[in-house]
Amino acid sequence: MKGSKNSNYLKQIELKENMIAALSHEIRNPLNTIKGANKYLNEKFKDIKEINEFTEIINNEILRIERYLNEFISFSRGIKLKLKTVDPVQYIKGIVLLAKYSFNGKIYIIEKKQKLPDITIDVELMRQVLDNLILNAKEAVNEIKNPEIKIILNCDNKFFYIEVVDNGIGISKENLKKVFYPFFTTKPNGLGIGLSICKAIISRHGGNIYLKSNKRAGTTFTIKIPILKGN
Ligand SMILES: Nc1ncnc2c1ncn2[C@@H]1O[C@H](COP(=O)(O)OP(=O)(O)OP(=O)(O)O)[C@@H](O)[C@H]1O
Ligand SMILES: [Mg+2]
Repeated sequence: MKGSKNSNYLKQIELKENMIAALSHEIRNPLNTIKGANKYLNEKFKDIKEINEFTEIINNEILRIERYLNEFISFSRGIKLKLKTVDPVQYIKGIVLLAKYSFNGKIYIIEKKQKLPDITIDVELMRQVLDNLILNAKEAVNEIKNPEIKIILNCDNKFFYIEVVDNGIGISKENLKKVFYPFFTTKPNGLGIGLSICKAIISRHGGNIYLKSNKRAGTTFTIKIPILKGN
């Protein structure tokens, strides 16, 4: 039962990906024309303050739409997996090394078992997932006294677990269900698509992503992916 539910979900994702790709490309062309015309007006009337202000606003909004489109296009392209088998500890260390830049708090990697099995993943897409989760965690601990992010690695016989734990602002009960919805955001400059992309990528890996959170006590996102035979 669960399997058929999952394959339906994947079919839905595929359909959405095609639509997203087509629509994104269709929007790009007229957007470029608007951008060009706006630039022309901005330069031609640069001495008129009002026109300058409004063309700036138009330009900022165009940049915002372009950000959406870029995310959507890479999402629709990137969802086809190129699988590779890697040592999870080394892999996560590489990601954390980069994440440590531009962060004042601490990031720990915790291995729950001495010998963790290799994992078979699309390294680029899984990096996108972890980058998104770590970025969200960083944003959540931004105003906390002792900001701390933990990446906890664990497994059982069938599954590998990667937890991203922060001690940040947490998520209110009413928002818990909404965070994976596309475009749901509580951030002034957020697009609200980070987690919906994470969910789609993890589903493609045959896995699942879920969360625990308490307002003010922090949040834990858990990625659960199957350990493939032969690892
Ligand atoms: N670690 C976290 N702690 C607290 N709230 C979180 C955390 N992760 C996600 N959220 C909540 O879930 C919402 C959706 O997250 P998501 O990553 O999808 O979008 P976003 O971060 O708002 O924007 P972006 O598309 O730029 O990532 C956030 O706006 C925030 O309210
Ligand atoms: Mg985000």
